Amino acid sequence: MIKPNQLIETQLSAWCAKTFTACLPAADLNGVNLGVNASRNEQFGDYQCDAAMKLAKELKSNPRALAQQFVDTADLPDLVEKIEIAGPGFINIYLKNEGLANQLTAMLGDNTLGLPNLGKNQTVIIDYSSPNVAKPMHIGHIRSTVIGNSIDRLYRALGYNVIADNHLGDWGTQFGLIILGYREFADMDALKTAPVEELERIYVTSYNMSKEDPAWRDRAKAELVKLQQGDAENRALWEKFIELTLSEFNRIYKRLDVAFDLYRGESFYNDQLAETVEKLQQAGLAEESNGALICNLEDDGLAVAIVRKSDGGYNYTTTDIATVASRTAEFQPSEIIYVTDDRQQLHFRQFFHICQKLNIPTKLTHVWFGLMRLPEATFSTREGNVIKLEALLDEAEARALEVVKKSSPDMSDEQQREVARAVGIGAIKYTDLSQNPASLVTFTWEKALAMDGNSAPYLQYAYARIASVRDKYAAKFPDINPDAFPIILTEEQERRLAIKLTRFAAAVETAARLHRPSVMADYLYDLSQAYSSFYQNVPFLKAEEGPRESRIRLCELTASVLKNGLALLGIETPERI
Ligand code: ARG
Repeated sequence: MIKPNQLIETQLSAWCAKTFTACLPAADLNGVNLGVNASRNEQFGDYQCDAAMKLAKELKSNPRALAQQFVDTADLPDLVEKIEIAGPGFINIYLKNEGLANQLTAMLGDNTLGLPNLGKNQTVIIDYSSPNVAKPMHIGHIRSTVIGNSIDRLYRALGYNVIADNHLGDWGTQFGLIILGYREFADMDALKTAPVEELERIYVTSYNMSKEDPAWRDRAKAELVKLQQGDAENRALWEKFIELTLSEFNRIYKRLDVAFDLYRGESFYNDQLAETVEKLQQAGLAEESNGALICNLEDDGLAVAIVRKSDGGYNYTTTDIATVASRTAEFQPSEIIYVTDDRQQLHFRQFFHICQKLNIPTKLTHVWFGLMRLPEATFSTREGNVIKLEALLDEAEARALEVVKKSSPDMSDEQQREVARAVGIGAIKYTDLSQNPASLVTFTWEKALAMDGNSAPYLQYAYARIASVRDKYAAKFPDINPDAFPIILTEEQERRLAIKLTRFAAAVETAARLHRPSVMADYLYDLSQAYSSFYQNVPFLKAEEGPRESRIRLCELTASVLKNGLALLGIETPERI
């Protein structure tokens, strides 16, 4: 009954729902969650169902009696050893060792390790990274890049057709200021060596001048109007600014192993803005207020959103509404996911609401995160920029190199550097991904590079160690093929590891559904703990033939799950550290 490539939870939940329906033919069970959850504590079985309690409340009956009725009626699926009633009416479900072993064998034979194809024929657009041309680039963009990319990988792994879209901030009033500033005081040498920093400097200086000097403001405005009207010279400058910015970003994307399918910045939607506002007016959603056009969202408890300013210019909200309409028409996505820092929550709530009122069917999700505190000397969150970000990555690699030199002094220099790159970048990414996004994190090198805590190097090291067990086995028993032996689960720690391994697919599904890579990180850390107690307590190379091969296969599967799982976080797994 339990098939690989379908979540165990999903199948057990379906079975519970069916059994309860059979128990209570007259009751309306719609809307009651009759499913199971993985038990957190093994004294409550492997999975647990609390539906009897929910139903009892609904039907005003006794939960334990309902649970008893369930037990009396239930036809146990192949995978289930026994069920028990516990406490006020929980149903604890215990899986058969043999059934678990079959699941593991199926995972070993499948290069996705049993992931369900949930996303078949569904397109998901993930809007992430999205830095602004010539405006200060901050740590928020990097968090967006790393978190967005992991969500991207999780969805792809589940079979979704993912479109990763880098929605660059490449349009807006700042370009008048930048063009004027560029003409008047650009430092051409600086533009060659550190273009994004110089563009930032031009923007900030010109912006400050516009605050003090109305004449400067008017000239900047004139440059902007020329750009908007398609003036060839200003157009060319604008393109040059984008190109300079992107060439620096692409260097970082490459180092972080991040790739986009589309780079459609705000400018892409520019000629759809007037039409968007018209649509809002026709739908009765926009009204005049002090010369501006606004959407009044007070009914929904949200602040007013301006969609056309009193000077006729459009803004961020208008562009985002146009973007949703355009993406929906072109790609029919089932969901659009936006990844930005928490300061943009109101903006997203506002335009999601407006889209809903426009009857746009697409599910819209804002994934937000708090800012991370970094070592002050390296990178300040207020005035961060690309150069400093690269310095952070350089420092991570340099520090990782020290670690690798200690752990593998015999490795060639080149290999050490290659491993240090994977470890250093992995450490930065994992620090970002393993956190609850809502909490404020302080980054420390000690935590990021810890070999003995919840960190990337720890997990990478666990992987490398497990991979070496296989090699040791092959050296000692060159003539035996472990794959010819069945998996058998006899020891307690072995069974615990097995249960954790079978939960890989559920961890991927949950991480994707909740848009939380930290679920994946927690799972992998947990798995590595289960492996470590298995490794310490159960003999394998010294065990007799049979259990020995079974355990080698468990090792192999653990290594694959760690490798694939870390890959979903965008983290590499060198064979040695
Ligand atoms: N460019 C924006 C910023 O840096 C982020 C854009 C996010 N995506 C969107 N469709 N609004 O703040």
